[in-house]
Amino acid sequence: MRFSSLTDRIDGPGVAAWQIHNAAMQGLREGRDIIALSVGDPSFATPQPICDRAIDAIQSGDTHYTAITGKPELRQAIARLYTQHFNLPIRMENVAVSAGAQNGIFTTALCLLNPGDDALALEPVYLTYAGCLEGIGARMLRAPMLPDQDFRLDLDALRSLVTPRTRAIFLANPNNPTGRVLSMEELEAIAELARTHDLWVVVDEVYRALVFDGDYLAMHQLPDMRERTVTIGSLSKSHAMTGWRSGWIVAPEPLIEHIDRLALNMLYGLPGFIQTAMVEAVHRYPEFTAEMRARYRRRRDIVTAELGTGYGIQVRQPMAGMFSLIDVRASGMTSGDFAWSLFREQNVSTVDAEAFSPGLAGFIRIAYGLDEEPLREGCRRIAHFAKGAMRRP
Ligand SMILES: Cc1ncc(COP(=O)(O)O)c(C=O)c1O
Repeated sequence: MRFSSLTDRIDGPGVAAWQIHNAAMQGLREGRDIIALSVGDPSFATPQPICDRAIDAIQSGDTHYTAITGKPELRQAIARLYTQHFNLPIRMENVAVSAGAQNGIFTTALCLLNPGDDALALEPVYLTYAGCLEGIGARMLRAPMLPDQDFRLDLDALRSLVTPRTRAIFLANPNNPTGRVLSMEELEAIAELARTHDLWVVVDEVYRALVFDGDYLAMHQLPDMRERTVTIGSLSKSHAMTGWRSGWIVAPEPLIEHIDRLALNMLYGLPGFIQTAMVEAVHRYPEFTAEMRARYRRRRDIVTAELGTGYGIQVRQPMAGMFSLIDVRASGMTSGDFAWSLFREQNVSTVDAEAFSPGLAGFIRIAYGLDEEPLREGCRRIAHFAKGAMRRP
């Protein structure tokens, strides 16, 4: 049987990078003593009040179709969150809910790009972006941010990629996997490029609530940027709600109207009881996220303390998020070999960070999904493996 050419375009290296995680999950199902540090899914339970709202909603019959772009009270709550936090006049008409940030990114790409258009992406780039952008027939051009420049924006590199076919710049801020948060100067430079060339800027803010060091500045706060900025939000990491598939898009009203029509054909709205729970999560956003941020920060500090010195490998301290990058170049192994050998010999799964950027060849990514004790044990096994690897000829 024949399939569409899209099926080839979504089958890139981003998919292959999950193989180690799939192997770890298989090992866990077989009862092996695996420590999975390969995925950004937190072990914390979703806060009880959020779960309670969902259960009450199901029991009171909130199990039918809902408004395609979301219940008005949820869209209003999200609009209020942005208005209050960033002092911006965001209205419910600027908000559409999506099945997680992932669905929001793909939906946005479908409404902004034509086949043959170029989209720029700041690299390291999250693994699904290539599938989203190239899947719909656009070209994704990568502007690298490199480890030896502390993952700072290289404006010249970004600017050199702009052509008359460029329509948008996609970026995750804070970044996965570097945990870097863009500075005001970097945001302003991207904004200026967008204004000059009439580009959209799509900012994936999945980790916005998890900034440990410094403030978070939003692209749509900058002058004349609200009309060309799409902000993608999610409760997955900040509220330990990965499985609820709860996210949103904040954008100019005409784009939300297109998203409404696309979602009608693609999603037909999120479940009502999930949206009711999301209202609780958004109303109490500062309270829930402060708690989560403190827990993630503790885990980040555990990784830095356990792996920080003495094993030949180097931990990069992230400013935000739930991942640490480990520089394993001193082992003499490629990061792919390091990750797979570590998995085979020590039963610890990590991700070869080269999948996010050729500039990250020689780095692996550790996620803080697990509780503190297994995370510590995972780090100890990594240290043990690294010591052994350094001694090999
Ligand atoms: C940068 C980035 N964007 C999007 C996603 C997807 O998030 P969600 O669970 O909200 O779909 C992830 C998940 O890890 C991510 O790291």
